[in-house]
Amino acid sequence: MASSAATAEKVAEAPKPIYLKDYTAPDYRFAKVVLDFELGEEVTVVGNTISVEPTFAAGGDPRPLFLNGDPTVELAGVEVNGTALDASAYVLTKKGLTITAPPAAPFELKITTKIKPQENTELEGLYKSSGNFCTQCEAEGFRRITFYQDRPDVMSEFTTRITADKAKYPVLLSNGNLVDSGDLDGGKHFTVWEDPFPKPAYLFALVAGDLGMIEDKFTTKSGREVALRIYVEEHNLDKADWAMVSLIKSMKWDEDVFGLEYDLDLFNIVAVDDFNMGAMENKSLNIFNSRLVLATPQTATDMDYSAIEGVVAHEYFHNWTGNRVTCRDWFQLSLKEGLTVYRDQEFSADMNSRGVKRIGDVARLRMAQFPQDAGPMAHPIRPESYIKMDNFYTVTVYEKGAEVVRMYETLLGKDGFRKGMDLYFERHDGQAVTCDDFLAAMADANGADLTAFKPWYSQAGTPKLDVTTEYDAAAKTFTMTCTQSTPTTPGQSDKKPVLMPIAVGLLASDGSDMELTLEGEAGAAGETTKVLRFSEASQTFVFTDVAEKPVPSILRNFSAPVRLSTDLTQEDLIFLMANDSDQFNRWEAGQTLTRALLLDLVEKAGKGEELVMDQAIVDAMRNIVNLAKEKGADKAFIARAMALPSEGELSEMVVPADPDVIHAARDFVVKTLAKELKEELLWTMRDNTSEKYERDGESRAARTLKNTCLALLSYLEDPEIDAEAFRRFKTADNMTDQISALSALSGRADCVEREEAIDAFYEQWKHDPLIMNKWLGLQAGASLPNNVENVKRLVDHPAFDIKNPNKVYSLVGGFVGGTPINFHAADGSGYEFLGDIVLKIDKLNGGVAARMVGGFTRWRKYDEKRQEMMKAQLERIVKTEGLSENVFEIVSKSLE
Ligand code: ARG
Ligand code: ZN
Repeated sequence: MASSAATAEKVAEAPKPIYLKDYTAPDYRFAKVVLDFELGEEVTVVGNTISVEPTFAAGGDPRPLFLNGDPTVELAGVEVNGTALDASAYVLTKKGLTITAPPAAPFELKITTKIKPQENTELEGLYKSSGNFCTQCEAEGFRRITFYQDRPDVMSEFTTRITADKAKYPVLLSNGNLVDSGDLDGGKHFTVWEDPFPKPAYLFALVAGDLGMIEDKFTTKSGREVALRIYVEEHNLDKADWAMVSLIKSMKWDEDVFGLEYDLDLFNIVAVDDFNMGAMENKSLNIFNSRLVLATPQTATDMDYSAIEGVVAHEYFHNWTGNRVTCRDWFQLSLKEGLTVYRDQEFSADMNSRGVKRIGDVARLRMAQFPQDAGPMAHPIRPESYIKMDNFYTVTVYEKGAEVVRMYETLLGKDGFRKGMDLYFERHDGQAVTCDDFLAAMADANGADLTAFKPWYSQAGTPKLDVTTEYDAAAKTFTMTCTQSTPTTPGQSDKKPVLMPIAVGLLASDGSDMELTLEGEAGAAGETTKVLRFSEASQTFVFTDVAEKPVPSILRNFSAPVRLSTDLTQEDLIFLMANDSDQFNRWEAGQTLTRALLLDLVEKAGKGEELVMDQAIVDAMRNIVNLAKEKGADKAFIARAMALPSEGELSEMVVPADPDVIHAARDFVVKTLAKELKEELLWTMRDNTSEKYERDGESRAARTLKNTCLALLSYLEDPEIDAEAFRRFKTADNMTDQISALSALSGRADCVEREEAIDAFYEQWKHDPLIMNKWLGLQAGASLPNNVENVKRLVDHPAFDIKNPNKVYSLVGGFVGGTPINFHAADGSGYEFLGDIVLKIDKLNGGVAARMVGGFTRWRKYDEKRQEMMKAQLERIVKTEGLSENVFEIVSKSLE
């Protein structure tokens, strides 16, 4: 065949995947590592002295020692036990360095490398940000510093010496304790750091720079005094307090809830502007994207504050779930990330409103993870293979992983879960372990059989759960028939049923919760929520002594990450919206209701039929808004309940999706609601407008509600409302209100205040890069006609910087994720823009480019014309010479 030669050639040069099934333990242990950094403007020299110990029995053939490396690292020397190795004793490739026949007994290996951090635009390994040196080593950045067994199951004690110019880099930090420091000739100085806890290289960190610092302290429950320091650029010193408050709360919470204490005398956080992801849990030296540290009420929104609180906690919690117990290999990433996300979610729930937090987390799972699980990149929370590990820091591994951890808690109870955690640490402190080890600890601590739970780790795809119900008035029984199935995903067709907890309540006609007795089980008195253990393809559960026909509240608190369908009627849903004691399901009932309406209207709009609003839904929404008048109303919940499913969420449910039609249908519903509820919205907006900014929970909730009303009202295209929004924009005393008002003004071309507000905001805040991210994101995500032209102009604007990940995520990510009608513009201009810019970004930073190219992965969802255009972009990208492995993996999998 003519094409087979060409295909074979392609395959030969394509990057090769790594498989979980190929895992083998390392042949060599690294007991101790001494690193020596000479930081320079042109060249940085790294000495790396490792105490190597074979893990296999002496005798037999010598086994080669492979050290991962990178083409950007220059090898300047290899010594074994103090003697330089002859070039014939090792093999150097693009992927690393192999010492062909190392000594059979423990030996000292010294590697010297030269690197150029100032040229490192990938921001992995050692790089420069705003003139300062910093590192990002997870997952595989350490190999861009020196040659090393760069894998998480190689854990060593690190000593790090840093030498640098004292004037330029007065602050020199690494992991552990500072054991020495001093001045050197030539205006240089040095520090030496010792980390007593063995760790994998991905947790190594170094920072050198000119930074200011705020300091506080925390005394652990067993009396250890810990110095807490947050380093930021001098001019940002007034913006680090909230991060410090969040850190102290996290330390206390982990002691109270899990009995986990901090284990060193020092804990540092450093904020940097150029960072690929959110933050990194390096032992005692967390490095953060500055957007997750810096906040004042004038510069950061309430949402930014919550994000800071959650991520500071997340990284701190990693000290136990990630650092003390780490992953055996990267396939186990969810072992630490799913667990730590679960922990930070619980922390935030305890610090704020639990129900609203849960609603937000589930909304995010649905918006981002469900689509991933239904697309070409679908993977289990424990993936089976990868080309570039960085591509697997996904909503699946993180957020679905957290849902899986949450299910243990739901199945075993809070106490049972804690017992499992205790056993996990008792067994595995200081080790690199697997997801199976975690499951075993949970099972063993509770004497539970969790075999049927295992497929959550190995199967991709969102399970579908169908529930039908029947009430038998004569027998007073209520029967629920549950059926589950998991859809086929790439490479996985044969799916097993999986154990899932279904939390159920039954509501009586007066809206109260019934006491529940499950057939075959002794009913615990007063129990009003039952957790059904559903593990077969199909199963029936019977409630007995049910006095009247109940309305069931199914999957309370979203007790399993599934797509639920039930036989509940519109009337049932309206009843649940008003009465369910489970706040999540009260919200969910409204979502189910509006989703059904929207999908119906999408179908009608697609056929060109007239759109008619369902009055029952207008009334239900009116009831929701009016709840705000009640004393003690949960305003954050009301604001949540007022939000309709997004265009993105809807497009996942329509085949083929036509973004224009979906937009038209949703726009119609929002506008109708705004018109019908105008008086209520205006009243609620004014009633929740306060004189002065406060940051307590109630004030924040009122602010959210007020701004939700404003957002809805702006759909009216009413000059009076626009003028009101403009007035609010100009007089806002905090960023939450200012950006909300700006957003209300910036969505429509015909709004006369639009440009003036956008320009005024720019003039006010152009000196602050984090606020410029907001400014870019807002414009990128606006549903203006032909917005792609705006976005292209912004690429050349001084506020944009293609080398800065935050800027790319705001502008490019904001465009792709924010405006289906513009990204999916019928003429393909949105696709072309993304294709062009992905190739530009890829030359600088493959990881960032790969995240952006993800906009194309769901191409098969759309109509034929759009499919063709998106596919053409993917094909053009995959054919590009010198493509990063990151982008190659996403694009080639999308095309499979
Ligand atoms: N472990 C970090 C966190 O979740 C994420 C680091 C990911 N970095 C990367 N280059 N993929 O807290
Ligand atoms: Zn994490």
